[in-house]
Amino acid sequence: MGLTIAVDGPAASGKGTISRAIAARFGLAHLDTGLLYRAVGRRMLDGEEPLVAARALRAEDLDAEDLRGPDVAEAASKVAALGEVRAALVDFQRAFAARAGGAVLDGRDIGTVICPDAPVKLFVTASAEVRAERRHKELLARGHDTRLEEVLADIRARDTRDAGRADAPMRAAEDAVLIDTSGMGIDEAVARAIAEVEARRPEPDDA
Ligand code: CDP
Repeated sequence: MGLTIAVDGPAASGKGTISRAIAARFGLAHLDTGLLYRAVGRRMLDGEEPLVAARALRAEDLDAEDLRGPDVAEAASKVAALGEVRAALVDFQRAFAARAGGAVLDGRDIGTVICPDAPVKLFVTASAEVRAERRHKELLARGHDTRLEEVLADIRARDTRDAGRADAPMRAAEDAVLIDTSGMGIDEAVARAIAEVEARRPEPDDA
């Protein structure tokens, strides 16, 4: 079986950029699992029942253009607190993780619930203030007109909901390496993550 790498952490911590860079560097497929919850959240905003939406989800739904906005993020975090919705999305994620060529999955519960046996687990974090600044810039660049204070409040509310839910709360696995990117630029964060993967991945011979 190929190498599986689990990357977890809160909103705008840098986990997405880091995951894409690791996937490119080691030739692995990448799944942003947040998109699954965002796609279900999107359909809930359109009036669909979240569990029905989760059960009907197809890979193509993850390519929808409008999944990155703050309203969808908020809806995603609400549907993500529903145990049955989470359960409906487990098989897709585990099948992706088991790809022969190996895979990087990023999310909130990859190292703890989806891939507890992944040989490499990273938990990427940063202060709420730094994350809000990053997300604010990102949203402005995408044409969303938001205020920094609003983004910070949203991030705090989502952190609390994601870490406090009963089912698969966001937390670092015991064997995860913590990377705090608060004082790092993206190049430094990526270099650090790649070094951690190099140090931990099984020798290609015993993989
Ligand atoms: O990009 P950002 O970190 O803002 O959000 P995301 O990773 O796309 O995740 C959106 C929401 O989906 C999160 O706030 C979580 O509530 C939920 N999520 C989850 O519960 N489990 C995952 N593995 C991934 C996302």
